[in-house]
Amino acid sequence: MRESLETIAGEIDKCTRCVLGRSRNHAVPGEGNRNARLMLIGEAPGREEDEKGRPFVGRAGRLLTQVLNDAGLTREEVFITSVIKCRPPNNRRPRKKEIRACLPYLRKQITAINPRVILLLGGVAAESLLGIRKVGEARGKPIRKDRVYLITYHPAAVLRNINLLSSLSEDIRLAKKLAYSET
Ligand code: URA
Repeated sequence: MRESLETIAGEIDKCTRCVLGRSRNHAVPGEGNRNARLMLIGEAPGREEDEKGRPFVGRAGRLLTQVLNDAGLTREEVFITSVIKCRPPNNRRPRKKEIRACLPYLRKQITAINPRVILLLGGVAAESLLGIRKVGEARGKPIRKDRVYLITYHPAAVLRNINLLSSLSEDIRLAKKLAYSET
């Protein structure tokens, strides 16, 4: 059965499937358009996301919002979430078993929204959904499966290396074109 986004968010808010549920202030299910043609998937909430219960509202999030806006997209028309819904302590990389525990929620969200295009932000998202580790090699090339997947750099990686900004920007523009073209 296809669950609603609200039902899935309710399950996430109560989740105790892994240790990250013990240290969270807020779970971060994600937000945006329930009928989004384009879905963006990051890694895991950071400090500001954990405080607010909203995805991508810290420094990396502000960069992402800017790049989306520059491409003519708003946060409201896409859906933004992450593989992991609770903040890992000190923003460490999520562990395999945490990803395994959390992925069913993401899969249910994908089913509920049924986006045309999924933009995977960074290696954790690319590996969790497609088994692809090398973002630098895979980025910018549409992968057609049940829908179109596109891999790009995580905005936090762009903050560490500003030379990656043009690739992130190019990939978001391509994702928009693929999601909104009429063919
Ligand atoms: N990074 C992510 O991957 N997700 C967020 O929600 C915030 C930062």
